Parts: sequence; C-alpha cells; structure tokens
Amino acid sequence: MSFQEANIVRSREALQSQIAVARRKGQRIGFVPTMGALHDGHISLVRRASEKADFVVASIFVNPTQFAPGEDLDRYPRDEEGDVARLSQAGCHLVYCPGVEEMYPEGSVTNVRVEEMSDLLDGIYRPHFFYGVATVVARLFIHVQPDVAVFGEKDYQQLQIIKRMVRDLGFGIEIVGGKTWRDEDGLAQSSRNAYLSEEERQRANAMFAALHRAAARIRIGVPVAEAIKEARSFILAAGFSRLDYVNAVDPASLQDLPDGPLAEDQACRLLAAAWMGSTRLIDNLGV
Ligand code: PAF
Repeated sequence: MSFQEANIVRSREALQSQIAVARRKGQRIGFVPTMGALHDGHISLVRRASEKADFVVASIFVNPTQFAPGEDLDRYPRDEEGDVARLSQAGCHLVYCPGVEEMYPEGSVTNVRVEEMSDLLDGIYRPHFFYGVATVVARLFIHVQPDVAVFGEKDYQQLQIIKRMVRDLGFGIEIVGGKTWRDEDGLAQSSRNAYLSEEERQRANAMFAALHRAAARIRIGVPVAEAIKEARSFILAAGFSRLDYVNAVDPASLQDLPDGPLAEDQACRLLAAAWMGSTRLIDNLGV
C-alpha cells in the first residue's frame, strides 16, 4: 500500500506554519503526543485521531521531566526513522520532534501540577511523574493548539489527569481515550515491554489475567477487598518480583472504593503496577 510520508518539523515555528496552512483550509486538527518507540497501540491512537480530525499531528519527545534520576531516560528505546514511517502509514500528516530546548527554553521554571489525582496510585511510587507529564502536555498543547487530542487508556491515570487539566485550565481541547492494545495472551502493549527477557515476557500477562479475574469476581458480588487480595496473590505467585499496587477506584476521581460488594450504580476501574525483574509494568481494566 502506498502512503504519503509525513513531514517532520523540529521547531515550534515550523510546526505552527504548517498547522496554519491546514487551518486556512478549514481543517480540524487532531493530536497524538508520544515518546516514540511506537507499537500498535500508538498507531491505533493515530487512526482514532484521523476519525476525529482532518489533519493529524503526532509528537515524538522523550520528556526528561517525567523521569526521576535513576529511571530509564537514557535507555528509553528510540527509533525516529521507524516511528515516522509507521506514523505516515497510519495517516499522520505532520510529526513534531522538538529538542529539549524547544520544549523547555533555557531558564524555564513554569510547571503544571494537577494536585490530588497526581499523588495517588502511580504518583505514590513516581512522585515526579504526573507533574512532568502535565507540564509537557500543556506545553505541547500550546505549541500545537489542536481541536482534539488522543491518549491511550493503557495510561489510565494519565488520561484522567489530562482531562482534569484541560477542564481546569480551559484549554478547549476534546480529549479522547483510545483503547488498550493487547498481545494475544492479554499483555498490554507498551514501549517498555522491549526490556523483558523472553522468560519474563512469558509470565508478564499474569497482571492482566489477575485484573480480569478480579473484575469477574467483583461483578458477581465478591467484596472489593477480597477480590483485590486474590489479585495481589495471583500476581506475586506468577513471578512478579514486586507489587506496587492493585486498587479498585472510581474511574473519574481515582479515589479508592469502599470495601464490600460493588454498589449497582458505582462504576469501578481496577489499576495495577508491578515489577517483572527490573521492568515496571502497569495495566488497568473497567469492571
Ligand atoms: O504517554 C506518553 O507517552 C507520555 O506520557 C506523553 C503523554 C507523550 C507525555 O510525555
């Protein structure tokens, strides 16, 4: 199949002049921010953006402010050429690959903090993380000024925090969640899966299996705390070396649900994070 190679721009000025051309044609702008190392999940977000907009922009920027010292910033997988080819094939029109100085001009001290939601769940284990994400996404939104932006549900807490930021700051951007892409055995696709050894990869789907089972148990009326306890044991027994959390939360506020059988009108999302060797994996599932 032939496809049009997306243009690559590295400066905010070049980005905005190309977007202005699309705007003059009356086109709606869709945006998919990424850190590259793209897999099918990212590609599905681009396709979702194409359904919602006429001109699709993706960004590739490995954002240093969402990594703490000692995390995997230096070894984060990078393949710009391959990523741009995949984005083009998926129907992306423009790829924004800014350098650090474009996103964080020298002397820049302004950050965005979405309080409360950023300090729960993953925020407990990676206290810097959502502040770095909110800051870079706000800056990217200001550069791109899209009508609609698509984020994967795989990073469920991130998606809720961005929705909240957009609401609180009045960005006027529609935020759309794209479904999680899974390998055949259920493992959620993630750029970090590349770190898993073959043997770790075989066992890594246990986190999804545990969430799936817990969701089924909660649905038949098993008390939330009991279903969560079972999921924790299952994950550890499957060979995850450390479990950060498995929680049942309200899908919008991310606050823990009370124990007991789930009330009929209460929506529930299960979120988990655990370590397979030196690789930290996260996943989530609606009940
Ligand atoms: O989900 C990601 O890849 C990143 O957190 C994002 C949203 C591109 C911000 O750097």
